[in-house]
Amino acid sequence: MTLELPDEAATARLAVSLLDALPAELAGWTILLSGDLGAGKSTFARALIRALGHSGAVPSPTYTLVEPYELPRVCVYHLDLYRVTGEEELRYLGWNELDSGFRLVEWPDRAPSLAQSADIAIEFAYSGEGRRAGLEGLSERGAEAIGRLRRTEKANQENQ
Ligand SMILES: Nc1ncnc2c1ncn2[C@@H]1O[C@H](COP(=O)(O)OP(=O)(O)OP(=O)(O)O)[C@@H](O)[C@H]1O
Ligand SMILES: [Mg+2]
Repeated sequence: MTLELPDEAATARLAVSLLDALPAELAGWTILLSGDLGAGKSTFARALIRALGHSGAVPSPTYTLVEPYELPRVCVYHLDLYRVTGEEELRYLGWNELDSGFRLVEWPDRAPSLAQSADIAIEFAYSGEGRRAGLEGLSERGAEAIGRLRRTEKANQENQ
């Protein structure tokens, strides 16, 4: 599914819509956020983390690699693998310990094996002054969620 995101607010709205399309239990889910520098990955992650109840800052995990958020519904792990150069670095990151959380991963291409256990891939791209997002379900439950998102987006467009 491809969606046009004319401004930053549209990217944030997509995060909220995706959250609505996910099941109540978010533990163990992985969402991959890819796209060029400045394509809107962190904007999306920040909106999703805030929609889950976080009210403070959402710093970029570029240097820390992972920023954890203990939120009422789930523990969120926001990862940015831009500086990761090899899969083995993920071991130091304690990827397996993050299993119980809800993972949002920027620059997942740095560790291709991640995609094997991921649920949803979102690819952001520049589109004129705005951005465009391509969404794909990678797991069965991820594909179901994208199906729900597609139906609500379609209904929203028809109501406009
Ligand atoms: N749909 C949109 N339309 C226009 N501008 C947007 C949109 N989404 C985000 N932006 C803007 O793009 C800029 C970069 O966004 P962001 O930091 O989220 O990108 P990123 O993909 O995380 O980049 P990086 O790879 O450097 O981490 C921000 O100034 C943000 O406001
Ligand atoms: Mg970013």
